[in-house]
This record gives sequence, C-alpha cells and structure tokens, in this order.
Amino acid sequence: MSDRNSSRSRSIGVEIIGSAHGLPDKIVTNADLEKCMDTSDEWIVKRTGIKERRQADTENGELTSSLAIKALSGAISDAGIDVTDLDMLLVATMTPDMPTPSVACVVARKIGAGNIAAMDINAACSGFIYTISLASALVESGMYGTIGVIGADTLSRHVDYSTEGRGAAILFGDAAAALIVRKTDDTSKGLIAHRMHTDGAGSKHLYIPSTKFDIPEGTEFDQNMCGLVQMNGQAVFKFAVSKFQQVIADTLDDAGLTADDVDHFVCHQANSRILDAARDRFGIPEEKLLKNIHKYGNTVAASAPLVFAELAESGQIKPGQRIMFLAFGAGLTWGSSLWQL
Ligand code: ACO
Repeated sequence: MSDRNSSRSRSIGVEIIGSAHGLPDKIVTNADLEKCMDTSDEWIVKRTGIKERRQADTENGELTSSLAIKALSGAISDAGIDVTDLDMLLVATMTPDMPTPSVACVVARKIGAGNIAAMDINAACSGFIYTISLASALVESGMYGTIGVIGADTLSRHVDYSTEGRGAAILFGDAAAALIVRKTDDTSKGLIAHRMHTDGAGSKHLYIPSTKFDIPEGTEFDQNMCGLVQMNGQAVFKFAVSKFQQVIADTLDDAGLTADDVDHFVCHQANSRILDAARDRFGIPEEKLLKNIHKYGNTVAASAPLVFAELAESGQIKPGQRIMFLAFGAGLTWGSSLWQL
C-alpha cells in the first residue's frame, strides 16, 4: 500500500455521511422484452450481463423527481440529519421532469428543504461523478456545509421498446441514488483526485434529438427519431472500454496510488464486459468492483451512486477506505472521483 499523496492538504475535510437509493417497483425482465421486440434473454445476458431493469410508472406520475425524493429521504435518514441541515442540493440528471424548474428545485420544495441552493447538472451517465467532485470542492472551499448529491434518471421515457430500438431498450433502467456530503474537522477525509472530460466530436454516437436540427451530418432524419435515444452501440462500446481504463490509470497516477490502494471501484454499470475489461487490465479482484448491472441495467446518472448505496447498505463501506467513482456517457463524457473516506 502506498501512502504518497493519498490525502491532499486542505483546511476543511469532507465526509460522506449517508446514502440510499430510490427505485421504481416495476421490474422489466428480459423475458418481458422478448414479448415486444426481436431479442432473447440469452443474447442480452451474454452481451451485457443484464437480466432485469426497473421502469418508472411515468403515466401515473412517477418521475425523475419522485425517485430522487425517495433516494434523498433515505440518505437523510441514513445520515441521521434533518432535512433543514442541507444547505445545497445538486441533482445529476439528463431526464428532468420538465425543462424548468429543475429536478433539484422540485425535490427541495417537496421535501421541505427551504430556500437552499438547488440545481441540476447534466453530464449524462458521468453526471454524478462530476457532481460529487463539485460538491466536495464547494464544501472544501467553505461555501457550503452539507450538500445532498443525487443521481436520478428515467431514461425509459426516451426508449423505443420495439425491435428498431432494441440496442438501447435492453440496456437502460430507471433509478435514483443519493449521498450526503458534509464538512468535517478531519482534514484527511475528502477528494484525493478527480478527472472530468468531454469529447463533443463523439456526440453523434449517443444523443436524443428534439428536432431535425439536432441530427448529425450524414444521418438521415426521420421524425420518429425525435425524443428517442439514438445510439451507435459499437462506437460507444469502444470509446467506453478505452476511456474507462485511461481514466483509472490517470487518476491513480494523479494520486500517486496503485489499483491495490483503492478499496472499491464504484463504477457506472453500462455493460458487464466493459467492467470485466477494466478489472482484467488492473488486476482488480471481484470484491473490489461490485456489479449490480444484472438487477438494474444502465441507470444513467444513478448508476454509480446506486452501487455505493448497495455497498454501504451491506456494510462494505468503512471509514479509512479509498473509493473511486467512475463513469462514461453521452456527450461524450467521462470522469472519476477518488475519495479518502
Ligand atoms: N437482441 C438481439 N440481437 C441484437 C440486439 C438485441 N437487443 N441488438 C443487436 N443485436 C444483433 C445485431 O443486429 C447484430 O446482428 P448481425 O450480426 O446479424 O448484424 C448482432 O446482434 C451484433 O450487434 P452489435 O451491435 O455488434 O452488438 P454488440 O455486441 O456491440 O452489443 C450493445 C450491443 C450491447 C449495445 C453494446 O454495443 C454496448 O453495450 N455498447 C455500449 C452502449 C453503452 O454503454 N451505452 C450507454 C452509454 S451511457 C449514457 O450516457 C447514456
């Protein structure tokens, strides 16, 4: 174990004091998908590792904010604080209930958080990773004391559940998960290193167009594309395998640590094969990289915090550990957030 640079010098420490998830009750299995598109359980499990995913009951008002409220309420109770202790709320999402107000504003009002700072951040599947690093910076700077950080998405609203849209339909699920970060006098705790990256040139591989003006050059427009995920699965897969590994290597390098020094790799769950490739490259044992993709699929910004919440719930998150949050997604975006707990 190397200790080099493992705790940056700071005058205010930052700790994660609670977490929880908020899941829809409805489960959509691979067998359910077989009924509405040309696919099979065998194909989906072999290519992705996914067996089932959750789906919000959007028609009856179960929206991104509903899942976010469930997750945040659980995290507040897990942290043993009162909702009025929060002085900021950040929601990573690419599927807000509506263009405005933000999910964060809806959540702040409905949980009775008062007139606190509240806003959404959209970096697709990397959104939570960006947001938890920003939250840490805001606490470390002394600007805010206790921040609710939520990842929440209901991408099922933008998926075509027919053979035409099967590439995306099999992958995505709906969920939210929340963490509470708070300032502490223990300055050994907090962010050790982080990375936030984008490559707009790759946006053509994963997007949700609103009008014909959003269609990349060279792609034929069809009105039915509007509002639905357009994805070049193979291109995203190649990007993900390479950037996921690169960002792990860069973050470890920034921190002067090796993969052995990290207790948990808390990863965005997009495809089991992408996670296996990273585990193989860095020799990460199975118990240090939890996979829950078989139960939830790819839940966009909720994915990594959902892994954290499950690890915490099962008692696997302990003081003194180092954890690395990781994700990649539309934009294209990718990033990491390495913490000393
Ligand atoms: N069921 C059955 N067959 C299928 C399905 C399906 N759901 N989807 C594709 N196929 C077929 C194809 O038609 C093709 O058939 P062919 O060989 O006869 O032409 C064959 O299976 C292989 O298709 P590929 O697209 O090459 O399949 P691949 O192994 O690449 O898997 C997948 C597709 C699962 C989408 C994979 O590319 C992937 O996971 N990509 C990454 C996607 C991703 O992570 N997206 C989210 C990013 S996060 C965010 O920000 C939202």
